[in-house]
Amino acid sequence: MKMLLQTPVILDVDTGVDDALGIILALNSPELDLRAITVCGGNNGLEQCCLNTVRVTHFALKELCPAVAAPVVARGLNPGGKEPEGAAVHGGDGLGGISHRLAFEGEDDLIVPQAAPVVRAVLDHAEAAGEKITIVTTGPLTNFASWTLDMPDLLLNTVSEVICMGGAFRAGGNITPAAEFNIYEDPSAAAVALAFCRGDERSGPAIPITFAGLDVTHKVVLRRAVIENLAARHPHAAMPAFVRDLTTTYMDFYERVRGLEGCALHDPLAVALAIDKSFCAIEPLHVEIETRGEHTRGMTVADTRDSLPAKQNPKRTTGVCTAVDADRFEKFFLQRVTGIEAD
Ligand code: RIB
Ligand code: CA
Repeated sequence: MKMLLQTPVILDVDTGVDDALGIILALNSPELDLRAITVCGGNNGLEQCCLNTVRVTHFALKELCPAVAAPVVARGLNPGGKEPEGAAVHGGDGLGGISHRLAFEGEDDLIVPQAAPVVRAVLDHAEAAGEKITIVTTGPLTNFASWTLDMPDLLLNTVSEVICMGGAFRAGGNITPAAEFNIYEDPSAAAVALAFCRGDERSGPAIPITFAGLDVTHKVVLRRAVIENLAARHPHAAMPAFVRDLTTTYMDFYERVRGLEGCALHDPLAVALAIDKSFCAIEPLHVEIETRGEHTRGMTVADTRDSLPAKQNPKRTTGVCTAVDADRFEKFFLQRVTGIEAD
């Protein structure tokens, strides 16, 4: 039997609806060993995002992948130190109004009070075992930026790559014309994270960082008819109905704002890249984060010029997703989060 080499992962979320789908995808992907989920405020307040995270994890482990070891869930920070308002996009509870349905006895006890010691323990264990960790972020980069200040050498010794859902490179933003939400919420953190991974302050090793921005995540869609049809054809399966109910208000938002008969799968695509990078075309570019502009705060500024100086720029090392195999990803996603093989 072929032994599957699992990739150890830390997932940093701001659980909202698509973060929840990313968590389920990570849990039900045998290629990944999800060691810890750290939480940041963003799609809702930090406490609600923590609750949503433990509830979705508990439900998916119970209904979809009971043999998978439960990851530690730990409370991180609020972006920019402020409590974000619950975004209309994800519903008042951050989970499309169904968070209360997932509540369970002892849920609060499963939220470890502070993320940094958990991350340090996971990385120490990896270092001792000679493993390399992949960090996937699907919220503001507040937590990751704080770890670069708190434990830089440990990160450099144990993290093989960072994959971020964030940014808008040739596409427009979703918070302003220039900025995507995860970067907009904490542009300083994104700038710190990017400079750390690129190795700006060191001549030493860098950590490869890849951004799955709106350029590709707006092109991967869960269609309302597809999930409603799947739930109707499998009335005794828990996950299709759960995904349908979880995404209903999120899809209503996308229908109102983008005329989409479905919803964008931002965070699940970032998780999928930890499994298979070939879902996207990825281009190395020099990227900086605008932290001050009156109209451009939170913009991911990519140097896409084809001049020789631009091409030879030593900072041209940040991976930017420029295209996506949407059909293949959507089929992969649906099978993994519902547990039902495509017809
Ligand atoms: O802009 C989309 C991103 O912002 C997604 O990660 C969504 O969950 C929100 O965090
Ligand atoms: Ca998110």
